[in-house]
Amino acid sequence: MKRIVVLSGAGMSAESGVSTFRDSNGLWHNHRIEEVATPAAWENNPKLVLEFYNQRRKQLFEVEPNAGHKALVKLEEKFNVQIITQNVDDLHERAGSTNVLHLHGELKKARSTLDPTLVYTLDHWELNWGDKCEKGSQLRPHIVWFGESVPLIGEAVNIISGADVVLVIGTSMVVYPAAGLIGYAADAIPKYYIDPKAFHVSGISKLTAIREKAGSAVPRLVEELLAGGER
Ligand code: OAD
Repeated sequence: MKRIVVLSGAGMSAESGVSTFRDSNGLWHNHRIEEVATPAAWENNPKLVLEFYNQRRKQLFEVEPNAGHKALVKLEEKFNVQIITQNVDDLHERAGSTNVLHLHGELKKARSTLDPTLVYTLDHWELNWGDKCEKGSQLRPHIVWFGESVPLIGEAVNIISGADVVLVIGTSMVVYPAAGLIGYAADAIPKYYIDPKAFHVSGISKLTAIREKAGSAVPRLVEELLAGGER
């Protein structure tokens, strides 16, 4: 079975109603990264950090997967599909995708500040100051913050190195190491970049830019791939 690797970013979930980070009115236009998404922010004002992620989590309980997420599930009928997402939402899983690697963590999980192996799935949106792990330490969002290492990057490199086709969907490709993953795909394989602002990625061969929204372009490309076509 051919292996299709999907690299998804915030644009994948935009049509579900989840804000992106860098588009106009994106999250990083309304919040300062240094105040809500760094270890220093957690040190200085943990309640603000918790509130920022609580609002994101609350929104996540109110949105649904879109046509793009659903189309990727269909791709599993004929292909071995592995999704590597920068998104912290669970919309790929809720659509029905079975192999999803969350490079930047997961909004619906919390983890111990004492023992990082203690990770808990939340069934409600609020994580509060005073919520503790079983060893008695404060819980933090299970998110990779700026300045922290990305524990799953090695696994992601292995996955994309073995891809037969790569789909890059809805990412500005500016945050590393995630943005560098495309460089590990084999030169000879087809790569598609679906994003209204898709640009030429220098040094990457066989990359087709599809400058459209995921909700319409992904279902169309999935149909083409299932039909055996390549652009
Ligand atoms: P960005 O906000 O940087 O980029 C979103 C991309 O989605 C842009 O290139 C948009 O053009 C595109 N886009 C918007 N609407 C779309 C649609 N309907 N269909 C397809 N594409 C669309 O988000 P990311 O690249 O995901 O990390 O950002 C990467 C990381 O930066 C995030 O994981 C997050 C952030 O800071 C952390 O918080 C650690």
